[in-house]
Order: sequence, then structure tokens, then C-alpha cells
Amino acid sequence: MFTKKRVFKGLTWVLGIGIVALVVIQLIPIDRSNPPVVREPNWDSPATRAYAERACFDCHSNETKWPWYSYVAPISWSVADHVHEGRAKFNMSEWPSGEGDEAAKTVQKGEMPLWEYTLIHSEARLSETERQAFVAGLQKTFGSEEGEEAENRSGRTSAEADDEAGESDN
Ligand code: HEC
Repeated sequence: MFTKKRVFKGLTWVLGIGIVALVVIQLIPIDRSNPPVVREPNWDSPATRAYAERACFDCHSNETKWPWYSYVAPISWSVADHVHEGRAKFNMSEWPSGEGDEAAKTVQKGEMPLWEYTLIHSEARLSETERQAFVAGLQKTFGSEEGEEAENRSGRTSAEADDEAGESDN
């Protein structure tokens, strides 16, 4: 029979085990390192860099600002995953790297910055005007997928950049 007393005892156990589990998972180590900045892209303007710093750097650079909740498991796992995956795809502190030619498109389509990031980071929410200016700056800095070459990529073609990216992946 489910007497009040037994239900209460059961709930106390569940709560107790939950608390112990929460404490134990804090002990799992998480890599929150910020490696040195090697080389930044050749920004077309300081404004483009400023937008990137506002909306992208936390996940796509080595200058991540790790917030307090990145020290609290299990939220920290998700934050660290985003940063590690983001840096692997496109790192603006270790240029040339990854899929820069897709950057403008991801912002244009609203895929980046990740929406869950903008929930907390209001500074990463761009107005329509800001977004258009940023997209234009990203296209000038990184080129775009449509084969439009970045103006100041020191003469490298995107095929060369892809080759290099491919090699470092192996
Ligand atoms: C909260 C972390 C986070 C932020 C902030 C963020 N990104 Fe990403 N980004 C990711 C992750 C994770 C991936 C890889 C998985 C995916 O594509 O969703 C990614 C992938 C990418 C890629 C590779 C192509 C693709 O779609 O997979 C590009 C390019 C990119 N991001 C550009 C940007 C730009 C530009 C900004 C700033 C406007 C930005 N990101 C902000 C986490 C982030």
C-alpha cells in the first residue's frame, strides 16, 4: 500500500540520490582552456571584428569568456561542447581555419550565433541593420560560398585554403 509515510520515504531517497549525483558529476573534468591567439583573419574593418567579438568569439576563437554556468555540470558539458565543436569548424584565432566562407551565409540565414546562446547573451542579438552590415563585412573578410573571393586574403584562393584545412584534419 502507498501510505503517506512510504511515499515520503521514497521521495526522500530519490531526492538524496539526485543530490549525490549532482555533486559527483561536478568532479568530471572539463577542458575550459583558451589556447593562445595565433593569427586573426585579415579583417576588412574594425567594425566586422567588433561584431564577431560580440556574437561569435565565445565559440569560434581562443578568447572564450567562460561564464559561471560553464562551471556547473551538466550545463557546463553543453557549453564546452559548443566551444570545442565551434572552434573545430571555424576558429578566428588560428587563421586560416575551416569553414570561413560559410560564415556570412550562416549569419544571413540566422543559423549563427546559435539561438540558445542569444537567449542569455543579449549583446549577441543583432538588429536587422547590424546583421546586414556584419554579413557584408564577413563576405569581404572571408569570401562567400558562391565563389566570391575575399578581397584581402593575401592572394590565396579558396581551393588552397581548403587543401590546407583538409591536411590539418588528417
Ligand atoms: C554558442 C556557440 C556558438 C556561437 C556563439 C556561434 N557559433 Fe558558429 N558554430 C557553433 C557550433 C557548435 C558549430 C558546429 C555545429 C553546427 O553547425 O551547428 C558551429 C558552426 C559554424 C560554422 C561552420 C558551418 C556550419 O554551419 O556548420 C560557421 C561558418 C559558423 N559556425 C559561424 C559562426 C558565426 C559567424 C558566428 C557569429 C555570428 C557564430 N558561428 C556563433 C557554435 C557557435
